[in-house]
Amino acid sequence: MLNHRLINPPKEPKEFVKIAIEFLKKHSGDKKVFCALSGGIDSSTAYLLLKEANIDTIPVFIDHGLMRTINGIEEREIIKQIFPEIVIIDIREEFLPKIYGEEDAESKRKLFKNAYSSTISKFIRDNNCEVLVDGTILPDIEESFGIKISDLKETMSLDEELALKEKNKQGFIKSQHNLEIEYDIKATIQPVASLTKEEIRNILKYLKVPQELIYRKAFPGPALSARIIGAVTPENLSFEKKVHDIVENCINTHYEEQYGVAMIINEQGEQEPFQVFAAIGEDVLLKKVTGMVQGKRTYEIPLSIKGEWDFNKLTTFASHLIGYARLFYELHESNKGIYDVIIRCVNSIDARKASVTNLPIHLLEEIKFKLLELSDTKNIYFDITPKPPATIEYV
Ligand code: XMP
Repeated sequence: MLNHRLINPPKEPKEFVKIAIEFLKKHSGDKKVFCALSGGIDSSTAYLLLKEANIDTIPVFIDHGLMRTINGIEEREIIKQIFPEIVIIDIREEFLPKIYGEEDAESKRKLFKNAYSSTISKFIRDNNCEVLVDGTILPDIEESFGIKISDLKETMSLDEELALKEKNKQGFIKSQHNLEIEYDIKATIQPVASLTKEEIRNILKYLKVPQELIYRKAFPGPALSARIIGAVTPENLSFEKKVHDIVENCINTHYEEQYGVAMIINEQGEQEPFQVFAAIGEDVLLKKVTGMVQGKRTYEIPLSIKGEWDFNKLTTFASHLIGYARLFYELHESNKGIYDVIIRCVNSIDARKASVTNLPIHLLEEIKFKLLELSDTKNIYFDITPKPPATIEYV
């Protein structure tokens, strides 16, 4: 298998789109192209570029049942509104029973990878697609290879890549990137491989796509399973969808009211907020979650703190945390309910590092009261740990 990546293109949107169209045409030839969309901005950009290039493409969305809902609407319905031509492959019935009960984070990831890989490979075979176009972006590549993208060639074989990765193994944090998923295909094309999220958003603005899509927060491949601490069950999944929606919606609305858009670039050059979500679990203070120390992944339990709200003092304290993976600020303590809810909201340039978003305490209180309308809500925390020493997600 060959991977073709657009290396060092001009970043000015008009120029970029022109070069990306030539690049896509060069490598797809007159072959039939498969493009998987996740609902996120990276794969949407890759697909829009294919449309700009008028290349014969089948756009596909895999519904495994663990996607978020936004304002109560399921992701598959949202993507169908944006791209009515999309083919939805519904694997919920086969996939969900496999993931229910699985506790181990890496095993959860593996289940997703296998599901994506086998579903996509089967679809490609059944539809005679010869090329796969995906939305792999710069941080995915550089983190996975451990070197700069400018040191890669435009076209590389899988064997060449494996040898290179082996040489730069210290770049590895988690087995998380979609580019490690293997497909049964002759070639992949990665038109946005040299772009950061912010550059992707500039291209989307240039292509005049709706604001909701441009400011859509990144969402991980293992979907809501990355935000359910411990095993996924039908019950906790249904609860997670509701609280995730509440948290994302309240924070998006706050930014829209404040700045007119759901995400800004702050003085540090970070996207603020970069990611927003609720994580849940039962007795989360007793559960090990992921952290990152000296570039390596750790598993430790979190620590909770309560008392006076002082954002700067608390986050500075959290940045020096040793022996615990996270510091939670306790917003509500209870012995009623089932699930603890953690509000996570971070700013970041490219997800390699992240700072905690300085949300006003009145907003956190407002979110707390909405969460408490659900009878299954137990304790509520705000995760005040930057990355490092925490990771963004909990698995
Ligand atoms: P962490 O938790 O490592 O996350 O700080 C960094 C960025 O990567 C996303 N993420 C994933 N994306 N598969 C993905 O496609 C994964 O297994 C995965 N784990 C984390 C996360 O949402 C954040 O943007």
